Amino acid sequence: MVTNPLLFTDIHCHIIPCIDDGAKNIAESILMANKAVLEGTKALIATPHQLGSNSRVTADAIKNGVALLRDQLNSQDIELTILPGADVRIDPELPKLLKQGKVLTLADRDKHVLLELPHDTYYPIDQLLKSLRKQGLVGILSHPERNRGIIKNPDVMWDVIEAGGLLQITAASLTGVFGSSCQEIAELAVDEGLIHFIASDAHDTKHRPFGMQEAFNTICDMAGEKLADLVCCENPARVFEGDDVKGGLVVKTARRSTQKRAKKTNKQNKGFRFGWFGR
Ligand SMILES: [Fe+2]
Repeated sequence: MVTNPLLFTDIHCHIIPCIDDGAKNIAESILMANKAVLEGTKALIATPHQLGSNSRVTADAIKNGVALLRDQLNSQDIELTILPGADVRIDPELPKLLKQGKVLTLADRDKHVLLELPHDTYYPIDQLLKSLRKQGLVGILSHPERNRGIIKNPDVMWDVIEAGGLLQITAASLTGVFGSSCQEIAELAVDEGLIHFIASDAHDTKHRPFGMQEAFNTICDMAGEKLADLVCCENPARVFEGDDVKGGLVVKTARRSTQKRAKKTNKQNKGFRFGWFGR
């Protein structure tokens, strides 16, 4: 096991209280923050859902929630830097809403947008990525490995990358928490270099925890520490700072050990967990 002290940046996390289906109150947010720090996360982008069934969530509400949480973290000496962002359901109006400042970019840097497809289907996002690019923005598709359309046809992950998009795999997918189908696509992403970020998409400390350290160790085991460092630390930190992230296929340096991985898979987690697809 590789221990990576306090180096992760998490670009996708539902830690703001009472705004979406993430933390239910400030106490849970503090618990989550403590857990993130314990697992080695130094910075995170709070990304409540926006648009879709969360169209009531405003950019101001997210920024206010981050300010409130920051105050609490400071008063309790919890060393976690938090910036505002959003987990944005894809919508035809998205480019316009971003221009108007009604939807947040990651870290509010006007550089990267975290894009979420409906969980049960895939449709091409080339045109959206193109529109965003015209506005100087890069789209990051969140958890493709948990989208049922992509699970059926993983080839479209290459299409997203060819269209200039970046891919974010959820930490817990790699360790089998979402079932074997998601885990297989997550592993395919690592094997084929279809991964630019690992993020937690944490919603709480029990059912949807962080898992960054475990995912980091898994990627070290599968493909080497260099790739693990790139997708868990370096690239996410670049998004946090508003810097460019290299697109295209990611080159890895080591082959995975399939046997070792198979042993780690939790048999109870085989198959889909449909209840989690909507979160
Ligand atoms: Fe999310």
